[in-house]
Amino acid sequence: MKRIAVVASGRGSNFQAIIDAIRDGKVPAECIALITDNPKAYAIDRARRAKIPCSIVDYATFPSREVYERALLASMHEADADLFVLAGYMRILGASIVRAFPGKMINIHPALLPSFTGLHAQRQAVQHGVKVAGCTVHFVDESLDGGPIILQKCVPVLGADDEDALAERILEQEHIVFPEAIRLFCEDRLVIEGRKVRIL
Ligand code: GAR
Repeated sequence: MKRIAVVASGRGSNFQAIIDAIRDGKVPAECIALITDNPKAYAIDRARRAKIPCSIVDYATFPSREVYERALLASMHEADADLFVLAGYMRILGASIVRAFPGKMINIHPALLPSFTGLHAQRQAVQHGVKVAGCTVHFVDESLDGGPIILQKCVPVLGADDEDALAERILEQEHIVFPEAIRLFCEDRLVIEGRKVRIL
């Protein structure tokens, strides 16, 4: 059974989807920690309800990003997880953290990467007028949302869509594809080959 730790900054609906998938036996893993940079994150309530230990590394209390990242790295080492799952972690991870866990960190992004990296991906999609949007689960490397892609799901953009409507429909797909990607990892079925991921 793999040990997974979730890193989240906010609402935590993806975290909840992961908790539920594990509870329902769809993902052979134990969620051993929530780590958050935000003491007001609703994800913390979800962790408490599921009896998952929570580590709050409050970004606002540190004098610099470097000091914050050292504390975050320490709490990640302490979690001693097989996989770190970034589920709505809204900061860029520094190189020291990415390098500490090669091939052991995945992220979900609300766009069909490599399109629309960074913040407000759904807004970027609406503004660009794309007809198909979606979400991507990928390994984390030192690039911005550029690591090897594991799974993607398409979501059609409808004529009446604004950012919020599109985000909501993408989120429904995130809740399916993220546990699925975690399951593949936990079954040792993901092989990173250069820029690509081969699924066994
Ligand atoms: C999700 O849509 C996720 O894809 C996005 O934040 C939302 C978190 O929702 N992540 C990013 O944009 C990362 N760049 P949640 O807190 O309800 O899981």
